[in-house]
Order: sequence, then C-alpha cells, then structure tokens
Amino acid sequence: MELTAAQIKDYNENGFLMLDGYFSAQEVKVITDELPVIFEEDSPRRILESNGKVRSVFFTTETNELINCVCRMDKLVTPAMQLLGSPVYVHQCKINAKQAMYGDWWQWHQDFVYWNIEDGMPSPRVMNMVILLQEVDEFNGPIFLVPGTHRVGIVDAEPQQSALDEVKDAPEYMSTLSANLKYVIEKQTLSKYIEAKPMFSAKGKAGSVLVFHGNLFHASLSNLSPFDRNILIITYNSVENKLMPVDKPRPEFIASRNFTSIEKISNDEILKFIKKEKI
Ligand code: SIN
Ligand code: MN
Repeated sequence: MELTAAQIKDYNENGFLMLDGYFSAQEVKVITDELPVIFEEDSPRRILESNGKVRSVFFTTETNELINCVCRMDKLVTPAMQLLGSPVYVHQCKINAKQAMYGDWWQWHQDFVYWNIEDGMPSPRVMNMVILLQEVDEFNGPIFLVPGTHRVGIVDAEPQQSALDEVKDAPEYMSTLSANLKYVIEKQTLSKYIEAKPMFSAKGKAGSVLVFHGNLFHASLSNLSPFDRNILIITYNSVENKLMPVDKPRPEFIASRNFTSIEKISNDEILKFIKKEKI
C-alpha cells in the first residue's frame, strides 16, 4: 500500500501525516485482545509510571509474534520505505499505555536527540508509525506536534539534572523513558516555533495511524479521563542509517542493533491471530 505523491509532499512539509481509519476494527481488536497478556508480563521491558501503572512495554523482534507481525505489514513498511528512501528495519517498538485516570505526561521532546546521543544513530532518517488502539480525543492524552520542526535539527540537548537524579537508584536509561525526561525542549524554543505554525493535536478514531519524523517536536498530557489510551509505536530506521558504537549502549529492546532489512508480509497475516471466542 503506497502513499500518494500528495501525502509524501504533506509529510515533507509538516513532518507528519494522519492516516484516518488505516487499521480496520478487526485488526485493532486482534492487537487489543493481546494487551492484557502484554501488560501482565513482569520484565525489564515493562516500564512503570511513578504510581505503579504500566507506562510502556518495549518489544524486540523475538518478544511477541503478533507485534512482530504488525511491524512487518505491507501497509506500514511500504510507506516507511517511501518516506525514508531505502529498505528499513525496526529501531524500537513499544506500546505506550497512558492508562485511564493514571497515565502520565510526556514532556516536549524530539526522539532523534535520544537516538543520536544515546544510541549513536547518525542522521534523522528515521520515523514513527503510531497506531491508535483506542479512540484518542482531547481528554485521554493525544500527542501534540509542532508542524515543520522536523527541519530545525536537534535543539536543547542539555541533560536535565532532575531527570538524572530521579533515577539514581535505577539503570541510567530510565531517565530516557520516564515522565521526567532527560532531554526536553525549552519554553523559549517551543514558543519560537509555535509562532510559525500552531500545534496540532493527533486525535482520531481507533485504527488511525500517525506517521511522524524523528526530529518533530512532540508531547502529550496525562490521561485524566476514564478511558485508556494505548498506542503502538513502531520506529522504522533506514538501513543506511545504522547505529554507531556508543560508550553505554541502551538495551537491545530500546535500541536494536539488528540492522537486517525487514521483509514485508501481506496485511492479512495478522488475522491469523484472531482469538477464538470462549463459548
Ligand atoms: C505518548 O505516548 O504520548 C508520547 C509518545 C512519544 O513521545 O513518542
Ligand atoms: Mn517521543
């Protein structure tokens, strides 16, 4: 499934695209049916909020057969290859939960700062595909984006001491995953770019897909609504943009060093994971 020339132009101009209703209700249900199992597994790949609720669960290609299958679907991989201009592999894959009443915020940041400084990724030839697993509205924590900021390069890459202090008894990489983030965008920087183009709130019905560039400024508020906001985020990197060695590499589940290009599969393949209803 290919993006049109107009969609590619739009992405290049704004740094993101919203594909409404891109996954069918049946495809979304296959994934949401798996969520209880995913959230229950106690593992270093499961990151908790300070209140103990699940914040994120990270996956490698070996972790979960269904999620691995989603990562390889033609309708995600083909657009990623079009936008990055080469074959791709999955640098990172996670579910961000933002649970009803408890899910915490994500401060303003650029993903590529982390992938560059922490993981050794040379250039921002990288993008996220975000699959909305429930309807996302203004109440349950949509991702806010600043159009056009994918073109400004890395800004504000000074580590926040408060974020480092908070995780001093935990692995240091936790400061790149928790509500108190290691690299954030400063107020002056944000206001400067918002003056040029107003913020966009990525709301949409379940199954919609937000595609966004690794350098785009983004954030989201906490979820005070009684509705969960689970999203699956797959980060595709160009195989021509492999990670360089770094002093303290983050674990494989956060920054994959398996640079083999993905082999696409047909979109129907995930339907084989439909769970039989109990009678
Ligand atoms: C979110 O889950 O709302 C934020 C995701 C991100 O920062 O990539
Ligand atoms: Mn991010």
